[in-house]
Formats: sequence, C-alpha cells, structure tokens
Amino acid sequence: MTNRLIRPVEIYLNTPPPDPDTPRPVRDSQVTFADLAEPQSQNVAGTLFGGVLLGFIDRAAAFCAMKHAGRPVVTKSFDEVEFNEPIYIGELVIAHASVNFTGQTSMEIGVKVFAQNPITGVERHTNTCYATFVALDDKGRPARVPGIIPETADEKRRNEAGRQRREERLNRSRKRTRG
Ligand SMILES: CC(C)(COP(=O)(O)OP(=O)(O)OC[C@H]1O[C@@H](n2cnc3c(N)ncnc32)[C@H](O)[C@@H]1OP(=O)(O)O)[C@@H](O)C(=O)NCCC(=O)NCCS
Repeated sequence: MTNRLIRPVEIYLNTPPPDPDTPRPVRDSQVTFADLAEPQSQNVAGTLFGGVLLGFIDRAAAFCAMKHAGRPVVTKSFDEVEFNEPIYIGELVIAHASVNFTGQTSMEIGVKVFAQNPITGVERHTNTCYATFVALDDKGRPARVPGIIPETADEKRRNEAGRQRREERLNRSRKRTRG
C-alpha cells in the first residue's frame, strides 16, 4: 500500500480490474447523469454557466470511462465544445455518456446533453462532445483497458467516427508539440 503513488477510492482497492484482453459491450458502461440547473449555477445572462456544464459532462464521461476500464481514470483531453443553445435555470440537464472508441490505455467517451423543460417535458439537444480519458495503474501510469464490443448500428458508427477523431486529435497534438 505504501508504494502507491495515487490513492484510488476504496472500491478500486477491493476489486481487481477486468482482463484487458477481453472486450466489453458498450452498453455495459453507458450512463445517464441528470441534474437540475439551479440559480447558484447561473451566468450573468441568467442561464446555466458554461463551466458548470463542462464539469457535469466531465463527471458523466469519467464515470462511464471508469465503468468500462474498471480503474481510476483521468481526463486527457476535451475536443472543442460548442454552446449553441442556452440551458435555462429550472431545466433538468441530462447527459448520456458512452464509450465510442478505445486505444491501448485511452478511451473516447461521447456525451450527448439534453435540457428538459419541467412544465412541458420537452427535451432540447444542447451539446454533443467527446472527451478522452486515460486509465491508471496503482503507480499512476497509463494502464491497458479492454476493447469495446459495439453491438448496435449507432455504436458501430460512433466507433468508426471515434477512430477517425482519435487520429486527427493525435495529429493535432503532435503538431502542437512540434510547435
Ligand atoms: C494521463 C497521463 C497519465 C498520460 O500520460 P502520458 O505520458 O501522456 O501517456 P502516453 O503518452 O502513454 O499517452 C496515454 C494515452 O493518451 C493518448 N493521448 C496522448 N495525447 C493525447 C491527446 N492530446 N488527446 C487524446 N489522447 C491522447 C495516447 O494516445 C495514449 O493512448 P493509447 O494508449 O490508447 O494510445 C498524463 O498525461 C497525466 O497525468 N495528465 C494529467 C491528467 C489530469 O490530471 N487530468 C485532469 C485535468 S484537470
């Protein structure tokens, strides 16, 4: 215990990670988070503050990634996020998170966000974003994660799109590093 560099929560100490050579169905780690947009989270325009929404998306995506990897994970990158629709105070914010693509140690999680009006029940799709998480071993180093089994047509389409986005993301990152 003393040579650990990270301090994972109790649940990871007591449960061995899954076999990284055995792929797991996408549906096993899909999660939905929901939270009320409350007055203390508003921006000066009186709608939901963007940073609060980003934190909410990050938490939903991280939970999904941890479910898939069976390990602690950290956020490695966020693709660009656009705020095209305001979320009003009093609406329910709903985030559906799903593993789109896995590399050796990283996972792209797609998050689709909706805002639900409590009076009418109408839901608006407000954002879609992609975040990459890296699983960690108990020394804080990247750890291998299982692959995914995309089963539905949507999961297969997202898997292929995720593969392309990963290539583009890593190319952009290499260009930035080279300056
Ligand atoms: C995550 C971390 C441990 C990875 O360490 P690293 O030395 O970059 O590890 P690697 O170079 O081996 O890359 C790990 C994975 O990230 C991927 N990766 C690298 N750069 C990336 C980028 N810009 N975007 C997405 N994925 C990227 C790599 O392809 C690799 O995935 P793979 O094994 O599936 O191919 C390290 O970067 C770190 O600790 N970052 C801080 C994380 C954090 O604190 N997040 C919260 C921020 S508030």
